[in-house]
Amino acid sequence: MTADLLLTGIGELATNQPRSPDLVGVVHDAVVAVRAGRVAWAGPAADLPAGLGELPRLDAGGRAVVPGFVDAHTHLVFAGDRSGEFCRRLRGEAYEEILASGGGIHSTVAATRAASLEDLAVSACERAWRLLRQGTTTVEIKSGYGLDTETEVKILEAAREVGERVPLDVVPTFLGAHVVAQGRGREEYLSLVTGEMLTACAPLARYCDVFCDRGAFSVDEARRVLRAGRERGLRPRLHAEQLDRTGGAWLAAEVGAASADHLDHATPEDAAALCRAAVVAVLLPAASFSLRAPQAPGRMLWDAGVTVALATDCNPGTSYVDSMPFVIALACLEMGLTPEEALWAATRGGALALDEPDKGWVVEGAVADLAILDAPSYRHLPYRPGGDLVWAVVKDGAVVVG
Ligand code: NIG
Ligand code: FE
Repeated sequence: MTADLLLTGIGELATNQPRSPDLVGVVHDAVVAVRAGRVAWAGPAADLPAGLGELPRLDAGGRAVVPGFVDAHTHLVFAGDRSGEFCRRLRGEAYEEILASGGGIHSTVAATRAASLEDLAVSACERAWRLLRQGTTTVEIKSGYGLDTETEVKILEAAREVGERVPLDVVPTFLGAHVVAQGRGREEYLSLVTGEMLTACAPLARYCDVFCDRGAFSVDEARRVLRAGRERGLRPRLHAEQLDRTGGAWLAAEVGAASADHLDHATPEDAAALCRAAVVAVLLPAASFSLRAPQAPGRMLWDAGVTVALATDCNPGTSYVDSMPFVIALACLEMGLTPEEALWAATRGGALALDEPDKGWVVEGAVADLAILDAPSYRHLPYRPGGDLVWAVVKDGAVVVG
């Protein structure tokens, strides 16, 4: 469903217009005109071209408007609850110890296998509405809590249901190589992932991802999975350098991945490789925050010229966070990005990470996805962490929240 709209009374509009001196292309006292779900015109109210004034109007009442957030890394489809594990970690147990002893991802896998497709779809839709109410209009969703063919397919089908039932766009990613399934040998599991499981999942996904890290998959194993995915038409993306520096960033550059994600342990050499290969760095400050781990070197990556995106990593283990505004606050307060860089990364950066060039900005022809903030400026996103700052959300030109 696409709509026509004339959004007036915008006190401050962040357009992400390229080559803006302030990075986010702010226009004051602005108007956005939308025709058939696309931006027809955006700029100062005084310059509105004749002929657009007849569109159905919504008055933003002087509020700030930003592009809808593009959350380029989530694990939104899952069953079960890991709050007990969370409390064990607060008392000092390590994430990797819990995983190695059969908890962590494996406990979510057990619950997800036991859930029906409809139950998974309903709970994921509830989470997607929480994202949407906080301004997210496009979300990437990974499989990876099935680790058998039937459940990986079920997760990707549930992700597709989210896109059909909730007014936001879903980008599906196959993450069969999350960890080796319990009860299977490594080689046996890799053959399954690159064979039968991939064949069944590829028609339901756009990307192939691997958790390339200590305790998960090696660089050589990840390369093998990503190559198999590529042969099935899935572009690579990668969990890289989260728990340790194992070479995932280099692999992402080597295979021309759309993104390398996490990067908590990335070095300046990794940054140079990502930059040369035009791989987007998807940074997940809420995961490091929830694990009480040091943050990724966001400042270094940005200054090295890497294209940076921000995402929630929403998942039941390491980051049960559904708010892009909160992620923006963490990126500024804990990672050293400026409010302009963080806003850009949460919108345009996410769009580039997902090969969605018509999203993440408010320029003529862009998809008309907007978040209207209950605040005078996008600066309030990092200034008021945890605040309830989204007043309304526009998806494809239609008001879907507010
Ligand atoms: O992005 N790093 C691997 N995967 C998820 C966590 C999965 C889990 O613990 O359930 C992540 O942090
Ligand atoms: Fe993840």
